[in-house]
Amino acid sequence: MRLDRLIANSGIGTRSAVRSIISHGSVQVNGAVVTDASFHVKETDSITIDGQEINLQTKLYFLLDKPDGVLTAMEDKRLPCVADYIPSELKSKKLSPVGRLDFHTSGLLIITNDGELSHRLQSPKYEVPKIYMATFRGLDWTEEEINTVASGFTIRDKGYSEQIAPAELKVIEPAQDGLARALLTLHEGKTHEVRRIFAHFNKEVLELRRLELAGVKIEEGLDSCGTFRPLTQDELDLLFEATGLNQTPASP
Ligand code: URA
Repeated sequence: MRLDRLIANSGIGTRSAVRSIISHGSVQVNGAVVTDASFHVKETDSITIDGQEINLQTKLYFLLDKPDGVLTAMEDKRLPCVADYIPSELKSKKLSPVGRLDFHTSGLLIITNDGELSHRLQSPKYEVPKIYMATFRGLDWTEEEINTVASGFTIRDKGYSEQIAPAELKVIEPAQDGLARALLTLHEGKTHEVRRIFAHFNKEVLELRRLELAGVKIEEGLDSCGTFRPLTQDELDLLFEATGLNQTPASP
């Protein structure tokens, strides 16, 4: 890639500002001054501006603990959306959420500009496990219902039918005063899937929180809602392993 483009992509400034910096002799590539903006460089080259090494990483990976009442969208004129949690210096980085949580679902959302990772995390092909904690109203799950969920089943509704892949349901708090809590592990990501699975068995989800994705975890409690942070290298390794991508870039 051209030197001016690579530096501009790292967020240092516009292409024309970067060209001016280069022509003034402030930029070194692998220890040698380069004044030609079209000089060919790789992301693995060491590039300094006035002796300061610049971070050339163009792929960025973050975790947002999405609060309830926030849209999974990068822009909305009326409602709070996930973009409101992304610091302004990252606005030009073409970040977007991986998949979608409902407006009234809280929890773990990966935010990245790595299109391949995003695609694979959402693809049913990789069966990436996602764990949801649901607080629901209704009768306790029976052994038979849990087995049906484990085998996969079909939801039929007003002339349409949809196959639900095998999933694991674990009751963590049996019904008390009509309210209960369970964990559901899905290996696919259909729209409103958790709520629809519960509804199929006459249970109404009142609160839903995603706790885990591909082994990356957040706290069960709501104190961390609204937290936006870079993924750690260990967390990135988990995502890459789960999606068959074995080159894990260094975390930001
Ligand atoms: N399933 C749902 O029903 N809602 C979500 O937000 C995510 C999974």
